[in-house]
Amino acid sequence: MRIVLVGPPGAGKGTQATRLAETLHIPHISTGDLFRANISQQTELGKLAKSYMDAGNLVPDEVTIAMAKDRMEQPDAEGGFLLDGFPRNVSQAEALDELLETEDMKLDAVLDLEAPEDEVVKRIAGRRVCRNDSAHVFHVTYTPPKQEGVCDVCGGELYQRDDDSEETVRKRLEVYHTQTEPIIDYYKSQGLVATIAATGPVDEVTRRALEALKRDQ
Ligand code: AP5
Repeated sequence: MRIVLVGPPGAGKGTQATRLAETLHIPHISTGDLFRANISQQTELGKLAKSYMDAGNLVPDEVTIAMAKDRMEQPDAEGGFLLDGFPRNVSQAEALDELLETEDMKLDAVLDLEAPEDEVVKRIAGRRVCRNDSAHVFHVTYTPPKQEGVCDVCGGELYQRDDDSEETVRKRLEVYHTQTEPIIDYYKSQGLVATIAATGPVDEVTRRALEALKRDQ
């Protein structure tokens, strides 16, 4: 299956993507995680991306699309993938359509994770991420690690993302409403969107997402 996850910052895209990808046996491709890996390896792409990410803005399309394309062309993505955080505006959605068309492929579903703004702000304020692997995500209240500051999965140090400050989160939400939300209509016109209530227990949200994907098959 080829799936896109969309939703505001803190909706739980990363949390759900990890679980869905495991259940569906497809790779989880997160452009945010790819940028963060470049930042920690101090690559030129990482240096460029960090300046945009810390300000809560989108990294320019040219570099983002090239990076996402490169990842989608890896052998493990031949049978499908779950995109988290890409596409993030209509030009990226059009670029993805073109790329899929050249390969004679198409998307199967777009899952739109909906959560109220005050809830996503609380989630982001308490989020802690593992330095070894940004797919290992915790929350100080909702999903706390067994030992404070230590990743349950690999023992890595947990930290708060630089772009999770209150001011940057407000900016990221504004960017989401102005630049990312329009892709929901773009995909609705292709009949691909399933809206998922992303509130309540994590397992329950996963169940709703899998149910929606079954309906689409
Ligand atoms: P990215 O890393 O994609 O961040 P985001 O979209 O802002 O989303 P988040 O990672 O903040 O939240 P999430 O929805 O994954 O929530 P999570 O599962 O962690 O992008 C970061 C930046 O990179 C962008 O601002 C941009 O600069 C750049 N970028 C990335 N892609 C780009 C692109 N395509 N084009 C241009 N620029 C790009 O959950 C949040 C917290 O809530 C966690 O603590 C979790 O434990 C908790 N939680 C999750 N679900 C629940 C639940 N059901 N109940 C209670 N708590 C929950």
